[in-house]
Amino acid sequence: MNLMNKEVIKIIAFGDIIGKPGRHALKKIIPELKKECHPDIIIVNGENLAHNKGITEKILVETISYGVDFFTLGDHAFDQAKEIAKIFAKNKYPIIRPANYPPEAKVPGSGWKIIKTKKGDVAALNLMGRVFFREILDCPFRAADKALDEIKKRTNIIICDFHAEATSEKKAMGYHLDAKVSLAYGTHTHIPSADEQILPQKTAYISDVGMTGPMKSVIGSNPENSIRHFTSQLPFDYELSEDKNIEVNAIYSEIDSRNGQAIKIKRIRRFVSV
Ligand SMILES: [Fe+2]
Ligand SMILES: [Fe+2]
Repeated sequence: MNLMNKEVIKIIAFGDIIGKPGRHALKKIIPELKKECHPDIIIVNGENLAHNKGITEKILVETISYGVDFFTLGDHAFDQAKEIAKIFAKNKYPIIRPANYPPEAKVPGSGWKIIKTKKGDVAALNLMGRVFFREILDCPFRAADKALDEIKKRTNIIICDFHAEATSEKKAMGYHLDAKVSLAYGTHTHIPSADEQILPQKTAYISDVGMTGPMKSVIGSNPENSIRHFTSQLPFDYELSEDKNIEVNAIYSEIDSRNGQAIKIKRIRRFVSV
């Protein structure tokens, strides 16, 4: 396939960015990746940006200054309740939260949004899983269909971050979204999966992008705390690892802007010291 450069939308998607070390790694890696890949959109999952617990306005603005265009969230979206309420109330920031909260939750913000690029409008959709995770959420599959009914009126170039625990639920979502979205990727486990692929009907897919955070850690936390939790059954005291060696996990994907079909998905795994 010989597409003109202007017809190819290039996306770099990061998974969960872990606190200050993750933010500093982003600051270092984004210029490098921009030079190599010339992305039209850089999207990150921001649920752990503020010391693992949600996001603040100050940190959102700081991360935008590093070159991030758009933010999705997950189960930590409302950890900093006042901050996230302020962020959504201003209605000017490029950020969404999972679309499938039950109506009773009355959460602010929206589950999808349009990202303007020089090559056309791209929609970002955020969903959260239920298996081994948040059973009381609304069905993410139905929520996806409902959102897509609206999104499709605006664009057929669609990115979906499915923030979920179980790979079975994620893969099923991938097939559910095949042909409906351009790129469906998983976040939340903080561990990258090696199953990047283009599904039969041209949706790029990966079960989990993986985190950008300290290498010597268990999902970003000091291993000692994690071992203590599993061996004692006491509550998990998440303490951010101090390892300065940061693993950076992301995906690079190319989408045909004329029909929203995926052309490529590639894993990125680098290490930077902060
Ligand atoms: Fe996370
Ligand atoms: Fe999460």
